[in-house]
Parts: sequence; structure tokens; C-alpha cells
Amino acid sequence: MTAQRIFFTGGSGKAGKHAIAYLLEQGHRVMNVDLVPLDLPGVDNLIADITDSGQMFNAMSSYAGFDELEPGTGVPPFDAVVHFAAVARILINPDNETFRVNTMGTYNVIEAAVKLGIKKIVIASSETVYGVCFSDGETNPHSLPLEEDYDIDPMDSYGLSKVVNEKTARSFQRRSGVDIYALRIGNVIEPHEYAEMFPGYFKNPEVRRRNVFCYIDARDLGQIVDLCLQKDGLGYQVFNAGNDTNGAIIPSKELAEKFFPGVPITRELDEHEALFSNRKIREVLGFKERHDWRNYVKPG
Ligand SMILES: NC(=O)c1ccc[n+]([C@@H]2O[C@H](COP(=O)([O-])OP(=O)(O)OC[C@H]3O[C@@H](n4cnc5c(N)ncnc54)[C@H](O)[C@@H]3O)[C@@H](O)[C@H]2O)c1
Repeated sequence: MTAQRIFFTGGSGKAGKHAIAYLLEQGHRVMNVDLVPLDLPGVDNLIADITDSGQMFNAMSSYAGFDELEPGTGVPPFDAVVHFAAVARILINPDNETFRVNTMGTYNVIEAAVKLGIKKIVIASSETVYGVCFSDGETNPHSLPLEEDYDIDPMDSYGLSKVVNEKTARSFQRRSGVDIYALRIGNVIEPHEYAEMFPGYFKNPEVRRRNVFCYIDARDLGQIVDLCLQKDGLGYQVFNAGNDTNGAIIPSKELAEKFFPGVPITRELDEHEALFSNRKIREVLGFKERHDWRNYVKPG
């Protein structure tokens, strides 16, 4: 494993703070670029706004900390950009503002990274691109399990912003040849949330229908980001970032038949295999789940 110097946007948020902790544990240097600082030993913070292109170019060519002044050899380059900053769902801001911040912010971050010669970019997309999460009314997916070649078609401004971001990433990758990987992140669960939330999910599984019963442990998400940083040469890629099984106690086939009746199931599923499939990160990146919900909460 090579330690890298990483420019991480949005690291003060729910997902980012755990991903950064994981990356620091692996020995990387991380500069968190956010509107608010992250209070975590070992992380460098810089306050900057992703919607301001000038700030992104400037921050990405900045020292990460005072210690980097010492060698007298100028500003070291970043090895990778991990871009998590966003308005992270609908109904925080008006729809047009969610769309603006997420799409312009992502354009600015990727453009600065590519033009400054940074060779690896990982961006946060979302499970919501599959169009079930924030749909008006109860909609079905076209098929299950949800895999990366699906014809994504969300009807909300947040999901749409993530679709646009994937296109932005693909366009810059094609132009530059650098690696840009988009993670379609599942519903992020922090360590303390298993005991708080999962018993309720088991009692009323329908509350998880809009998430297609997916979850990603925030620490396992850190592992996925790190695997993306270690893997080179894949060009533009989209990966579902989810755990191995559903956040439910009902077996997968039964779950699909009960909550998504009539939806075609396109391949054999293991008994509890996630309907939001993580097969690609397992097979391509070598992801090995460490934080199955069963480690933290009893079924039933
Ligand atoms: N939490 C989930 O379940 C989930 C699921 C799928 C995808 N995602 C995506 O993962 C990423 C992280 O999500 P999260 O749950 O940690 O969100 P969060 O809202 O907790 O964190 C987002 C961070 O981005 C920062 N930010 C917002 N606007 C900014 C701006 N203009 N400039 C700089 N920083 C800005 C915020 O200050 C915050 O610290 C987001 O891109 C989100 O869309 C999250």
C-alpha cells in the first residue's frame, strides 16, 4: 500500500468523517476541504466552497499544512481527489439550489483536478440514481438486483444532479485519460446507528423500500474509497458502494417478491444477497465487507 496525499471534499459530513478516519489509519495524508472543519486528529482542514472554481484550483495547488513549508521544495502535488461535498438529499435546499451546488461543484472539482494533472479522482454518486428513493409515489425498479449497467432515470433534482455528475466525470475522463471512479453510495450507516435504527427496520421493513433495503457501513465505505485509490488504470468506472446483504431479515427473493412484485429478477441471488448489488466492487476492487449489520444488532 502506498501512502498518498489526498484532497478530500465534504469530509466533515456523515460519510466523509468515517472515510477520512479510515484513510488516515491506512497512512494517507488527507486535506479536508469543506465549509466547516472536521475535528479529527491528523486531518488537515481548509475552508473552501466547491461552487467557486477559483477556490478549487487554488486549494488543489495549496500546502496541506505548515509542515509542508519546511522542505523548501514548494507545494507537493496531490495524488488523488475524493469528492464527497454536496447537498446530500432533497428537501434541505430548494431543488434548483441542490442541482446547482452538486453539478457545478462537481464540475469545478473535476475540472481543477484534471487541469492540475491529478491522476485519480473518486466522486460520490448515489443509490438514488436508480430512481426509487426520491420518486413521487411508489415506483418499481426496472429489474433487480440493481447493477451498474442499469438505465438510471431518477425524477428528483438530487438524483438528477448525480446522473449529471457521472456524465461530467465520464466526459473529463475521456478527454484526459485519468482514472475517474464514481461510487453510487448506498444508505450510509454510522456505527451508532445499528442499535438505533435496525430494530425498527426489522419491525417495519417497508420503511426501507425506497432504499431498496441497501446500506453501506461508513467504515466499509472508507475501505471502498481506499481500494479505489489503490487501483489504477480502469479509466471511467461506476461502482455501487453497498454491503454484501440487505439491511433486512427477510431473504432477498422473498423481499423482492413482497415489496417489488412483478419486477424481473435477472440472476440467481444468494439467500440474503443485497438487491443493491455490490458484486462489482467485490470482483473488481477486492472489497471484503468488515461491518455486516449482524455484528452489531440481533435479527428480529
Ligand atoms: N449519507 C448517505 O446515505 C448518502 C447516500 C448516497 C450518497 N451520498 C453522497 O455522499 C456524499 C457525502 O454524504 P454525507 O451523508 O456525508 O453528506 P453530509 O451532508 O453529511 O456532508 C456533506 C458535506 O459537504 C459539505 N458541503 C456542502 N456544500 C459545500 C460546498 N458548497 N463547498 C464545500 N463543502 C460543502 C458540507 O459542509 C458537509 O460537511 C454526498 O455527495 C452525498 O450526496 C450520501
